[in-house]
Amino acid sequence: MSNVVILGAQWGDEGKGKIVDLFADTFDVVIRYQGGHNAGHTVKVGDRTFVLKLIPSGILRPGKIAVIGNGLVVDPAALIQEIETLEKTGVDVSGQLRISNRAQVILPLHRMMEKMSEAIGTTWRGIGPSYEDKTGRRGIRIADLMEPAAFSSMFEALLAEKEKIARALGIYQETVFAQVRDEYLRHAERLRPMVCDTARLVNQAIDSGKRVMFEGAQGTMLDIDHGTYPFVTSSSASVGGACTGAGVPPTRIHGVIGISKAYITRVGAGPFPTEDKTEMGDHIRNIGREFGSVTGRPRRCGWFDVPLLRYTAMVNGFDSLVVTKLDVLDDLAEIPVCVEYRMDGEEIQEMPATCRGIERIQPVYEKLPGWNTPTAGLTHYDDLPSNAKDYLAFLETEMGVEVGCISTGPERNQTILIPGSKLAKLLA
Ligand code: GDP
Ligand code: IMO
Ligand code: MG
Repeated sequence: MSNVVILGAQWGDEGKGKIVDLFADTFDVVIRYQGGHNAGHTVKVGDRTFVLKLIPSGILRPGKIAVIGNGLVVDPAALIQEIETLEKTGVDVSGQLRISNRAQVILPLHRMMEKMSEAIGTTWRGIGPSYEDKTGRRGIRIADLMEPAAFSSMFEALLAEKEKIARALGIYQETVFAQVRDEYLRHAERLRPMVCDTARLVNQAIDSGKRVMFEGAQGTMLDIDHGTYPFVTSSSASVGGACTGAGVPPTRIHGVIGISKAYITRVGAGPFPTEDKTEMGDHIRNIGREFGSVTGRPRRCGWFDVPLLRYTAMVNGFDSLVVTKLDVLDDLAEIPVCVEYRMDGEEIQEMPATCRGIERIQPVYEKLPGWNTPTAGLTHYDDLPSNAKDYLAFLETEMGVEVGCISTGPERNQTILIPGSKLAKLLA
């Protein structure tokens, strides 16, 4: 009975939502382990499109338990809005969703403090400031929100502290304490039936032979430790985050699946070695509909970056990789792939630790022939044009990680699972 982590191998938006929803069929529990409503996971089911932000993509599978783990930062109003939107479509959210009592609460004051991180192009959801309060040991957790008196005094103290800082920085925005407190306490009652010790829930599920999927948000290159710091998010999006953010030991996890596009994108600022700033980048953006699912911002587009994938494969220990959006490359005559990083003319083996270093990378490209044939919607490997097969085989050899699954469209069934792959075995 394999428990697996599924996470982004690039800078986010790799198509995790689609793949988690698809694979959730073979799991009993799906737990999100980090991030907040900065995530936007689009799932298409028939003619309906869902954009999930905080709620794990497993929620769309009836009967599956979907868990918001302790590693998340939760804006109660955003969560309730998401719950209500899903309930209107007939999803049994109250029956399926569980929320960790140890997750952090995002308050309006966190959005106010976010004015300080303007330079990196965040999603403006209060994510960074909320994680700052968590590690600063002054955060308010869901368990505190469940105790009205404790919540009120903690909130008042935090507000007083932030007000001083915000006034000094000239970013102060009036918060009517009583109004916000009452609003949050109302939200608390709405969420209360779903709140529990989710680490216990998940470990007990494993004890009883159930299968658990750990769902990452963002991507490894946005990880607070391993990403392109400081142009990162404020949580551990890579595999280690699954253990801390769910309360499950590594000994109970049996596989790690990375998700990567057949090319690469990034939203917000920060270094991006294979970015294509020409009309070709615009073309990929248009064909791939590369606009943020949460913020609507145009995503920066570029070419598959093998050294970056080798790096994220090292950090996460990928057993297998899912390559999404192959169909977006269908009409290209040739496809550049970055196979080597150079700096000052010399090949480098390591991902530079600083953004200054990453900015100096000179990518070396190999150009592969395109296939000029539609792959959109294909479900069998044998039906892929031979140049598409060669492209995937090239990536696999260069990365040293198997490609166990290929996505050829946003729908559940527009997917090719490679029979006999490690991935197929992990899902069996
Ligand atoms: P996530 O954040 O990793 O879940 O990814 P997003 O949902 O933000 O962005 C991925 C986008 O690509 C969504 O609009 C998906 O519906 C879409 N998508 C996923 N897989 C495929 C695919 O194989 N082909 C195409 N054309 N679109 C896809
Ligand atoms: P999913 O789960 C892509 C980026 C933001 C910004 C940086 C920090 O859909 O893949 P934050 O608001 O987290 O403090 O912003 O991280 N970012 C994402 N980029 N996909 C995401 O999530 C992202 N979540 C945050 O654009 O550059
Ligand atoms: Mg997204």
